Amino acid sequence: MSMMTPPKKIKFTIPRLLESKGAGSPVAMVTAYDATMARIVDAANVDLILVGDSVGTVMQGAKNTLAVTMDQMAYHVQMVAAAKPSALIVGDLPFGSYQASNSDAVRNSIRLIQAGAECVKLEGGVHVSHAIEAIVNADIPVIGHIGLTPQSYHRMGGNKVQGRTEGDGAGSRERIMKDALAVEKAGASAVVIEAVPSDLAEEITNTLAIPTIGIGAGVHCDGQVLVINDLLGLSERCFTFTKAYTNFRQQAIDAVNAYVNEVHESKFPSTQHSFQ
Ligand code: KIV
Repeated sequence: MSMMTPPKKIKFTIPRLLESKGAGSPVAMVTAYDATMARIVDAANVDLILVGDSVGTVMQGAKNTLAVTMDQMAYHVQMVAAAKPSALIVGDLPFGSYQASNSDAVRNSIRLIQAGAECVKLEGGVHVSHAIEAIVNADIPVIGHIGLTPQSYHRMGGNKVQGRTEGDGAGSRERIMKDALAVEKAGASAVVIEAVPSDLAEEITNTLAIPTIGIGAGVHCDGQVLVINDLLGLSERCFTFTKAYTNFRQQAIDAVNAYVNEVHESKFPSTQHSFQ
């Protein structure tokens, strides 16, 4: 019997992301923060890997993402890039890395690209459109992020569903639509829409020429993104808009507990796991 070599996967690129709009099959993005997980999600055929600043809550155990630094993001991007995935690597710009000036935004984007990202993502709409434009002018592809923007934690009073109010106030439907249009006009290649009513996400998706990637934004977006720990059931909590496709947390507890019991009972290592 001959060994079959798996077909070489085609690299997912920014042009492929742009072409995916309206092509009938939504794109799938997940987060990963290191090479091991990047290899796993790439083997599972994801289109985009987001090295998200959710590393702050998911890996560092923080309450929000605000303390994540550029040094940390560059390190995690480097680890994911070491896996050489076919998926497009998106590096998240952390809080404080683009808000103060366009030159910060460009310099920090360059840093993530040099660490191995193929695109950067930043949060906000109208108010950060100048930063998006500056980064795009430096020839770096950008993905926007509107709706629930976790870096606006204090303004929003926590991570709250957005787009449920009428009018032009922060977090209103009209403002989120304006944010979407501003992100597109500034030259972004796609936009993440987080935690807004599905009909608003659908309206944005139908209005924009660039792909929308939803999380908690319903099924009508041009793609979906999930945090890998939520998808794998590693998190203790499961949010309404996330889906655990397996229960790795319990499986991990059971496996480690089996090891602990074998050690306590002097059953591990057996001769099979020892040198003679
Ligand atoms: O940092 C992150 O993981 C994100 C996703 C939730 C979209 O921004």
